[in-house]
Amino acid sequence: MAICVILAHPQPGSFNHAIAATVVQTLHHHGYAVIFHDLYAEKFDPLLPGEEIPADAPLPPLLEQHCREVAQAQGLVIIHPNWWGQPPAILKGWVDRVFRPGWAYKFLEGDKGEGIPRGLLTAKAALVFNTSNTPPEREAAVFGDPLETIWGNCIFGLCGVDNFFRKNFAVVVTSTPEDRKTWLQEVRDLVERYFSKI
Ligand SMILES: Cc1cc2nc3c(=O)[nH]c(=O)nc-3n(C[C@H](O)[C@H](O)[C@H](O)COP(=O)(O)O)c2cc1C
Repeated sequence: MAICVILAHPQPGSFNHAIAATVVQTLHHHGYAVIFHDLYAEKFDPLLPGEEIPADAPLPPLLEQHCREVAQAQGLVIIHPNWWGQPPAILKGWVDRVFRPGWAYKFLEGDKGEGIPRGLLTAKAALVFNTSNTPPEREAAVFGDPLETIWGNCIFGLCGVDNFFRKNFAVVVTSTPEDRKTWLQEVRDLVERYFSKI
């Protein structure tokens, strides 16, 4: 059993990379096995091919490995910047391909896909860390904070992980080294709060 940590940011020196390093370090410090994927560095192919859509489709070995890791993870941590109110395309595609029927959710007997799916993930908690350049008041009032809905309702809620928390750090572009130091401490504290007792 391990905690699965997923990073989607193309620039190794980014604040997102600093968040990911802090998450992994904190989990190791607490004795967790960590499965870490830097999707850009690994060149994860985000395009869901048509033949992979059927629930019983044969899967390429690497994709099956990702599906198994997520399905069996004790916890999940996702790190990405806000791009147009959404995850970067590489992460959207990772969700499209990895959060599959039979692994992440299923429809009940007799349900052709129109009903309410049952979540299959067994993770005890899911954390999402985001960064953006929009102050929180404007994000909520003008855009409706779509990432909260996407991760909390559409993805983790649907797949059975109700113990979900998302933290957005903003505004990155005007942040000081001191701000970022404080934010990384918040990352440590949240990882400890959500994973030290599971
Ligand atoms: C393609 C793209 C789209 C972006 N869209 C948004 C957005 O919708 N809202 C926002 O606040 N920031 C947006 N940004 C800014 C990024 O969120 C910001 O640069 C990033 O979170 C900073 O973190 P980093 O230093 O780790 O890159 C966008 C940036 C890019 C490159």
